[in-house]
Amino acid sequence: MKPAILRPLPLALLLSCSHLAHADEGTNTQKQFEYGQKMHAQHCTKCHADEVYTRENRFVKSLDALSKQVLRCKNNTGAPWFDEDTEAVVHFLNEKYYKF
Ligand code: HEC
Repeated sequence: MKPAILRPLPLALLLSCSHLAHADEGTNTQKQFEYGQKMHAQHCTKCHADEVYTRENRFVKSLDALSKQVLRCKNNTGAPWFDEDTEAVVHFLNEKYYKF
């Protein structure tokens, strides 16, 4: 009989560990993209869909304006984000949609 301790860790536990590790991954562009994507999916789809980023008359016209708008929207959500979280979401939106 196998001892209980050899059972694999529950997935949720593994995911929360990788979340805690994100601070060390700030310089890794791919990781930042994935992290930003995740944060965006969790907090940024309540009021508008991704169409606002690609619509013809979108009002964000520069990377600076994008950072400011993400901050403004973040403050509306009440999401308890650190600067790295906001930066990751700005990076994600810029890579995926705005391409400044
Ligand atoms: C409380 C509602 C709300 C939430 C939640 C929200 N937004 Fe927004 N967001 C808005 C509104 C309202 C606009 C303006 C839309 C318009 O003019 O049609 C907007 C516009 C934007 C734009 C500008 C789009 C353009 O025209 O270029 C960006 C970028 C953006 N939001 C990012 C985010 C991000 C990132 C998050 C998550 C932190 C987020 N939003 C969460 C309400 C919200």
